[in-house]
Amino acid sequence: IFQNPLPLAPIATPASSTNVNGQQIDFYEVTIEPFQKQIYPDLGPANLVGYNGVAPGPTYYVKKGTQTVIRYHNNHTDDSVVHLHGSATHTPWDGWPSDSIALGQYKDYYYPNDQNARSIWYHDHADGITTLNCFRGLIGTYIIYDPEEDKLNLPTGKYDVPLMITDKMYTDSGDLVSVANESEDFVGDIMEVNGQPWPYLEVEPRKYRLRLYNTATSRPLDIHVEQSNGDWLDFQVIASDSGLFGSPVNSNQVTMGMAERYEIVVDFSAFANQNLTLKNAFALSGPGYPQFDNMDLVMSFVVGNSVNDWSSNEVPSTLNPNINWPEDRDEVDHTFRFQRGDNVWTINGVDFDDVNNRILARPPQGSTQRWRLVYAGGPGYHPVHVHLVDFKILSRTGGSRGVLPYESAGLKDIVLLEPGETVDIEAHYGPWNGLYMFHCHNLRHEDSMMMASFNVTRLET
Ligand code: C2O
Ligand code: CU
Repeated sequence: IFQNPLPLAPIATPASSTNVNGQQIDFYEVTIEPFQKQIYPDLGPANLVGYNGVAPGPTYYVKKGTQTVIRYHNNHTDDSVVHLHGSATHTPWDGWPSDSIALGQYKDYYYPNDQNARSIWYHDHADGITTLNCFRGLIGTYIIYDPEEDKLNLPTGKYDVPLMITDKMYTDSGDLVSVANESEDFVGDIMEVNGQPWPYLEVEPRKYRLRLYNTATSRPLDIHVEQSNGDWLDFQVIASDSGLFGSPVNSNQVTMGMAERYEIVVDFSAFANQNLTLKNAFALSGPGYPQFDNMDLVMSFVVGNSVNDWSSNEVPSTLNPNINWPEDRDEVDHTFRFQRGDNVWTINGVDFDDVNNRILARPPQGSTQRWRLVYAGGPGYHPVHVHLVDFKILSRTGGSRGVLPYESAGLKDIVLLEPGETVDIEAHYGPWNGLYMFHCHNLRHEDSMMMASFNVTRLET
């Protein structure tokens, strides 16, 4: 089944660079455009849409503190909105769903990149068609790096691999199935990594840093690495949504809701000349989920027998000692209930089209708030994403598990709510003020209005 090599997206390069009073600003130009790709050699091409005509789009490597301006031209008939997920972006460039770029237009997005090193991503956020646009390919990796991280000697260069994992489905003629305008969860029957169904990656018998992204529409993943005898490999989880942990967490699996990221370091040194398999063990529960073959398979690692370069082969016991944890707070400031309404999905009974009621919180700029997120109805999963902030997961109750060790080892921007669960999160509201969104990242729910807004209110001076 693992017939084709893992593709890696091209690396984005700035069209120009300027320096204003010591501040470096890199300018990029990207075109959102339709293209065709032969996913199945024997069938017709799939009609995709990509950033610069590739899907996933180019990978950005941006040094902390270097500002970026990215001009997105839209050469596609459907509206597009770009959101840099995990970035503390000022509101005009944060990807408000109706702030769309129409065919023939462009918009310049400005990003301060002032956060610590982290694996974030950019993706479409257009009103009602986010599922469709992301499914057709409008997603990409954006990596912020910083000098503190560089000093750690973690696997780098070709030993540092972003893996955007998603499920897809194609018709008999080789094109994508239609995923528009429905409110039920979508799960596909093909597992793709970086745009390739079930790929393989040739690796050397040494350590690799794997940046795992769940970019699926509605499917949570439970990722592990399996040996040929069926045993699960132990690895080190070193980072999540908002960057490196204080210290690595040992595990042999990571549960990942849609849009969550975990970075793991896998040591292949004991497996020369063997194959290992990246697998998914998440059991979709509840009605409405078709069960397809091979959705437990993700990709394969073909381990060679020699190592080209032994540098950057470390995982120090201290990674980031300076995580910016919000101060503890016992009082719950807001409780948000995620459930189905009439034909839409709602948060506290409000859907995003309800423009007079959709601002559900007004945290003062600089304040810390504790939010209680409640799974109040399904079917399906509700990964809850809060724009702008990094949050700490305080508790998880009501389901079969508590807070997982790697969930609380670093800050996050998204947390999975499974049926019955209540999760408390705490965040420091800043650095900017203004109107932001929080929403379910099950894209079918998101397109069916399971979004709300919060207004970080400006401090009076
Ligand atoms: Cu990844 Cu509001 O989105
Ligand atoms: Cu949801």
